[in-house]
Amino acid sequence: MESEATAPWGAEREVGVGPWEGPWPEGDHYDPELLAQGDRRNVVDKYRYWSHAAIVADLDTRRHGFHVAIENWQHDFNIGTVVRTANAFLAKEVHIIGKKRWNRRGAMVTDKYQHIRHHASVEEFLGWAGTAGVVVLGVDLFPDSVPLETYDLPRNCVLVFGQEGPGLSEQVRQAAEATLSIAQFGSTRSINAGVAAGIAMHAWIRQHTQV
Ligand SMILES: C[S@@+](CC[C@H](N)C(=O)[O-])C[C@H]1O[C@@H](n2cnc3c(N)ncnc32)[C@H](O)[C@@H]1O
Repeated sequence: MESEATAPWGAEREVGVGPWEGPWPEGDHYDPELLAQGDRRNVVDKYRYWSHAAIVADLDTRRHGFHVAIENWQHDFNIGTVVRTANAFLAKEVHIIGKKRWNRRGAMVTDKYQHIRHHASVEEFLGWAGTAGVVVLGVDLFPDSVPLETYDLPRNCVLVFGQEGPGLSEQVRQAAEATLSIAQFGSTRSINAGVAAGIAMHAWIRQHTQV
């Protein structure tokens, strides 16, 4: 089980803060156990000593309009990376289409703070998107894909990624409002799905947020 206190850069450097020193701060968002024991979780400084529920509630007040979805027909190893990046960029939700189980290791416990919804089939996923009024955008290198670099991403959209090997399913491709490609210049046919997801999420961030 991945520890939230494990530093991504190595085990020897301890993450976080020790027990609270001095009179305890006031506020329901503080977790008495963390104040007493210290907070070694992989969270930004603003959330030090906050309870898990208080952190999620605060994130929920600020989540962005984009969702991400990844197809998981063969246990894709990139899902942890996608979840971690979705957490960092504050995606509304992560959707896993296909198999429910996924390898949590790469998520570095960020999945605890991220809403994750499972859809057993593409139909179920498309039904959710229709009801939620979220524009479905496939991300893959098809001959008719539009460059992500010049595409105006809708505020409320779901960016759907295929998995290593087969890539985006034909069902998602057909149902998507558009499919978007990330420009490549080298010899490889494609980039890693987790990397592609990070680039696409950041494209949305560049278009819709003030940094
Ligand atoms: C490694 S690719 C799948 C293999 C790919 N179908 C091929 O022919 O090499 C896995 C997923 O990463 C994403 N991806 C990889 N490179 C991409 C690119 N240049 N533009 C858009 N999506 C990309 C897509 O979502 C794709 O379904």
